[in-house]
Amino acid sequence: MKAKLTLSKISKIGTIDKRIYGSFIEHLGRAVYGGIYEPGHETSDDMGFRQDVMELIKELNIPIVRYPGGNFVSGYRWEDGIGDKAKRPRRLDLAWKSIETNEVGVDEFQEWAKRANSDVMMAVNLGTRGPQEAQDLIEYCNFQGGTYYSDLRRKNGFEKPFDIKVWCLGNEMDGPWQTCAKTAEEYGRIACETAKVMKWVDPSIELVACGSSGLTMPTFGDWERTVLEHTYDYVDYISLHQYYNNYENDPDVFLARSLEMETFIESVVAICDSVKAKKHSKKTINLSFDEWNVWFHSHGQDKRIEPWGKAPSLLEDVYTFEDALLVGCLLIALVKHCDRVKMACLAQLVNVIAPIMTENGGAAWAQTIFYPFMHVSNYGRGTALKPILECETYENKISDKVPYVETVAVHNEEKNEVVVFAVNRSADQTIDFSIDLTEFQNAKLVEHTEMIHADLKATNTASNPKNVVPSATGVTKIEENTAIATLKPYSWNVIRFS
Ligand code: AHR
Repeated sequence: MKAKLTLSKISKIGTIDKRIYGSFIEHLGRAVYGGIYEPGHETSDDMGFRQDVMELIKELNIPIVRYPGGNFVSGYRWEDGIGDKAKRPRRLDLAWKSIETNEVGVDEFQEWAKRANSDVMMAVNLGTRGPQEAQDLIEYCNFQGGTYYSDLRRKNGFEKPFDIKVWCLGNEMDGPWQTCAKTAEEYGRIACETAKVMKWVDPSIELVACGSSGLTMPTFGDWERTVLEHTYDYVDYISLHQYYNNYENDPDVFLARSLEMETFIESVVAICDSVKAKKHSKKTINLSFDEWNVWFHSHGQDKRIEPWGKAPSLLEDVYTFEDALLVGCLLIALVKHCDRVKMACLAQLVNVIAPIMTENGGAAWAQTIFYPFMHVSNYGRGTALKPILECETYENKISDKVPYVETVAVHNEEKNEVVVFAVNRSADQTIDFSIDLTEFQNAKLVEHTEMIHADLKATNTASNPKNVVPSATGVTKIEENTAIATLKPYSWNVIRFS
């Protein structure tokens, strides 16, 4: 099969906000305890942060990490996680039916984020709590000093404000599973009032209002519209969350799920802009896709876990090579919409539906999905170019036209580099993929990295951590100003030119 991609410097999607390569750490399962934090582990630093995990995280080059939830945040009392650790209470976490010991809270997490070269995207509790507690928290985190909470922070050893710039106004408030879920009206009102007080404390922050917890929520659409009608003037982003499953075990359908992500994004953009038009507003609301991933492998196993354990092994999906191919397609979908998606978080980062897995007291390793994320996060910086693609398509229940090649290119002007990301969705066809580089005269191939495996269900595990890894074995030839890349069946490809 043949396919052709034409790249034009002037045909741009937009500048990529690096925060689309964000991730997420929730107080859930072993994300924090046994994940990023394990005092006594042989690699732990002075604060108990695992450095084997930290090294892997640094390879992912993550600019922002959402914290502390997720569903957890809707019952969280942030004051539990500050100051003297010996005095911190053990609490019931209703979201995950676990015991929260509060050994890690915002004091520790902001320090961990600094060490990980990342910023924090902090969520406030709009489930059991409201504007007052959100005001107290932002005063603790961002106010210079001379007030009760800012001085409490200083007393706790942090003279300088944490200066957290991005804040989520609650989490998935449309979901019946949420502690104190709300109607769109109820949430819109409280989100608006909370946004006002938070920006009064620190006008430099950016705020994310909760959108729907998924495209198939029965309230989708009306939820976004109502929430934005209340909050439009006070917030900067609306969130999108979506997880993808492969219960049907059909790769043709599964690998087309990124088209659903594109539809979701385009639908939310349309709603944002319709509210903008109705309000005669000059302001544009952008999107924060702050939870996305594949999630289904662990559902059965989680049902068998006894409640009220400390850091139980919840949501520990073991990802396959097939999942990595979809994650590659989803990353491409985000880049293709970088004109409006300004933040996104791979949910999550360690152990919980995560690219990184650990054993308590043992090893840390990269799951299959680690690699496409690492590639796009590191090489997908700069300007996204519109993919002018000629390619055969197939038909299924997701779309009448699923292209066999999913692709996007990024031009990094600073590094004088063009990088093409491509997934071959075909099971048996090698694709001769020609990339027209006429506008990038004299571009030379730097590397064609590919990830392939004979078994779509192959995984990386503690005993076989390098079973599915990328290699620089891809074949790309340049003839005049056209590169011909060989995209093997079911492959993830990163083709770099300079
Ligand atoms: O990421 C796991 C959970 O998925 C989050 O806590 C919640 O926001 C979503 O439903």
